[in-house]
Amino acid sequence: MPTLSLFPTRIRHTALSSEPGWPALGLELEEACRGLAAEDAAGRAWAKRHGYRGYTSYASLDDLPRRATVFGALKRRLDREAAAFAAELGLELGGRRLKLDSLWVNLLRPGGAHSGHLHPLSVLSGTLYVATPEGAGAIRFEDPRLPMMMARPPVGPDADAALRSFHTHQPRPGDLLLWESWLRHEVMPHGGKTSPGAERISLSFNYGWG
Ligand code: NI
Repeated sequence: MPTLSLFPTRIRHTALSSEPGWPALGLELEEACRGLAAEDAAGRAWAKRHGYRGYTSYASLDDLPRRATVFGALKRRLDREAAAFAAELGLELGGRRLKLDSLWVNLLRPGGAHSGHLHPLSVLSGTLYVATPEGAGAIRFEDPRLPMMMARPPVGPDADAALRSFHTHQPRPGDLLLWESWLRHEVMPHGGKTSPGAERISLSFNYGWG
């Protein structure tokens, strides 16, 4: 009998860059994100207070899909992706759909990072990368079972990717990643040089049930 491989941790990767509408959508999203960063003083103040190097609309704006048509178009694309991922995971939604309950902009300057965290109270979470200039930090996911591994030897660097404790993804514009919200992840430091256009820009989101 073969060895079973059970309880998988799935991370769904879709390259929007391979879709015909991407170049235009990507440019429009970048412009809209930079526009918010320029206009949203409350968001900039929040970022400053919380030591976030750059700008995030996370705590200041909760209506992006209604605020600009490009975010509305993105929401429709994300809805399809979230539904497909929920089906892939075999989730029983009891006749209901997963709903976007937050969508926010992250504009990270060189030197900025985001330490390990989960997205509580949500089912699925994800990020779409809009601008990833030179030195932009990767996203790193960790095995959710790590806190239980008290006496287990580490997995060697040459082991199969599925066996390793960390998975690092170096994002490119148009990469759309989705994962279950309980999966811990972090954004590695932005190692680029400070210059115009050096910001790492992404849109993050959460889907809830009900
Ligand atoms: Ni996150």
